[in-house]
Amino acid sequence: MSSALESKLEMALANLQRVRLGVDNTPLEHLPRFSAALDGPQVWIKRDDLTGLAFGGNKTRMLEYSMAAAVERGADTVVFGAAVQSNYCRQLAGACAKLGMTLHLVLRSEREIDRTAISGNNLVQRLLGAHVTVLSDNDRDRQQEMIAAKAEALRAAGHNVFVPRQDDTVDLDVIAYAESALELVRQCRQEEIDPRYVYVCAADTTQTGLVLGLIAVGSPMLVKGINPAFKKDNEKRMAWTANQAADRLDLDVTLTAADFDNDDSFVGERYGIPSAEGMAALRLLAQTEGILTDPVYSSKALAGLVAHIRSGALPPHEPVVFVHTGGAPAIFGYTEEMVAALEE
Ligand SMILES: Cc1ncc(COP(=O)(O)O)c(C=O)c1O
Repeated sequence: MSSALESKLEMALANLQRVRLGVDNTPLEHLPRFSAALDGPQVWIKRDDLTGLAFGGNKTRMLEYSMAAAVERGADTVVFGAAVQSNYCRQLAGACAKLGMTLHLVLRSEREIDRTAISGNNLVQRLLGAHVTVLSDNDRDRQQEMIAAKAEALRAAGHNVFVPRQDDTVDLDVIAYAESALELVRQCRQEEIDPRYVYVCAADTTQTGLVLGLIAVGSPMLVKGINPAFKKDNEKRMAWTANQAADRLDLDVTLTAADFDNDDSFVGERYGIPSAEGMAALRLLAQTEGILTDPVYSSKALAGLVAHIRSGALPPHEPVVFVHTGGAPAIFGYTEEMVAALEE
């Protein structure tokens, strides 16, 4: 039976503007062969890789709320930037195609090959119609300056430009994951499981929203965020955006940095470079359950879960949930690393 707090969150979500881009209510599935291979707790997976838009992933949910703001503002053009193999940019390209907006992407190269190769997400976003500029390095400050300059130039030429993930809309991305938390709580009840931990690949809004949603509905589930990059005050920012989202939803909760458990010990060499543990975890899930993760994000989070099961940190009698945030198209942008992993 749904609690009053769950109904309150559900109604607050229903009152927000939203554009339909994919599917929500993604399945919660049991992973019997993966669990048996690890000889630990029963692992369940929340299939947010199946959200549908342009190969799916966690950003579909976020774009349904943030692109509603773009539509409301009358935007005809979107400017954004991230890494060449960004899943956000791939899904944003899908959203822009569906909404009839022009997308300009300014992307930074994390690896030498990113400067020239058109593969994986960087192929898909072009097929979806994005105009792509690839920078020759990964200087984030220079990238931000170029994004701002591009947006200014397009405005001067008469376009109505929307730049997503700014301070006035980033809480909409958080809200999308509060919704995923609500689904998860209800699905666990339906499956009659009582997990203590939810593992997820998260640097930012995904974990923020999951934690906000779980606290807002009074769930005791705890989120273990595994960061794909080295942290810089991430928990502080998570608390800030969570409270901004709580305000927008009129929820009676205030979060602090201490509410966020975010672990960057599974990054490996650095962001954007696959890790040996991640590749091993990717193969294990693929070969026991037929589910693919990606080399940069979800496989590193899966590696965290595998390590914690193997070390005995997760008791075998308590089920655990892994939120699959998607990203598998990046496999085709990391072919060399993938082939090398096959030989290990
Ligand atoms: C597949 C995948 N998982 C997880 C994340 C992390 O999401 P967030 O930055 O909202 O925490 C990303 C971000 O791009 C992603 O592409």
